[in-house]
Amino acid sequence: MTVHLTNPPRSSGSRVAGLGHYQPPTTLTNDDLVAMGVDTNDEWVQSRVGIAERRFAMDETMLDMAVAAASKAMANSGVSPTDVDLVILATCTGKQQVPGGAAELASRLGIDSPGAYDLNAACAGFVYALNAASNTVTSGQAHTVLVVGSEKLTDYVDLMDRGTGIIFADGAGAAVVTASDSVGIGPVVWGSDGDSAGAITTDAETATLRQEGQSVFRWATSKMGDVALQACAAAGLEPSQLAGFVPHQANLRIIDLIAKKLNAPNVVVARDIITSGNTSSASIPIALSKMLERGEIASGAPVLLVGFGAGLTYAGQVILAP
Ligand code: UT7
Repeated sequence: MTVHLTNPPRSSGSRVAGLGHYQPPTTLTNDDLVAMGVDTNDEWVQSRVGIAERRFAMDETMLDMAVAAASKAMANSGVSPTDVDLVILATCTGKQQVPGGAAELASRLGIDSPGAYDLNAACAGFVYALNAASNTVTSGQAHTVLVVGSEKLTDYVDLMDRGTGIIFADGAGAAVVTASDSVGIGPVVWGSDGDSAGAITTDAETATLRQEGQSVFRWATSKMGDVALQACAAAGLEPSQLAGFVPHQANLRIIDLIAKKLNAPNVVVARDIITSGNTSSASIPIALSKMLERGEIASGAPVLLVGFGAGLTYAGQVILAP
């Protein structure tokens, strides 16, 4: 006997309905780190990485920041807790392995028993989560999905380690994805390189984050330009048609090298790393949310997102601004 299962009706497209972000108020300059005993200097950090200052969470947990960013994204989208069917939390800095944070996040937001799961693709996590949300919506499995990237990297960073202590910071960004009659979230271009899994890891004993900075830098600058171009092509756009480019905020030199490869001088490039540092999965939604707040991107304009990091993993995708 052949049994036919039914599927929910598909949606023709998905779109980002709104974004929000939260950054903790405590700001540390490079000189502040030097005063704390870090063996570095402002000139080196600004010229090699591009960071002038970063935000560190003090009392806030990763979930506190996720709640704050998600509340803003829901308010900006005109979505109430009863509308949300699914919550995806992209993070690699949850306090414990079990449970994940998405169910508690939903509960703290007053969302009643949605689907909820955590997703760990490190600094590429937000783009992976956005793509998962979009696919869930277009398949008809959900109408409204809350996507959050939240990280408290300072829980895992040894401040005295020059290769990570000056780079990583804390914060959260969120987006609401809803069903749409037209395509507002383009196809993803993604991949990974598990042979280089050791390039960014947490130490098994101490859980401290370590990275082979130079090899990750070489990988990002040699591969991510092509990923950016492929994501544009997959969405059917020339780079010059983009309004904005929001790459993962890992290093200002990496951002500028990928932007150069796009060869689209009129595109607004996110350089939020200067004042926010590297917040892993939160860096793209924070930078994008701030660009929208500043009115740098018009509603409906195409924006390219490219995330990359530990795994190694990467993902690029063009979306239309809410
Ligand atoms: O978010 C996940 C993805 N991660 C990334 O994309 C990170 C990619 N990598 C990077 O951004 C860079 O490799 C780092 C910012 C991590 C390091 O910059 P670098 O230009 O690759 O530095 P390096 O490790 O090659 O070191 C160059 C020099 C060395 O001195 P000598 O041997 O040339 O005299 C280091 O000792 O800079 C020195 N140095 C520092 N000096 C002051 C390294 N770190 C520091 C520091 N302050 N914090």
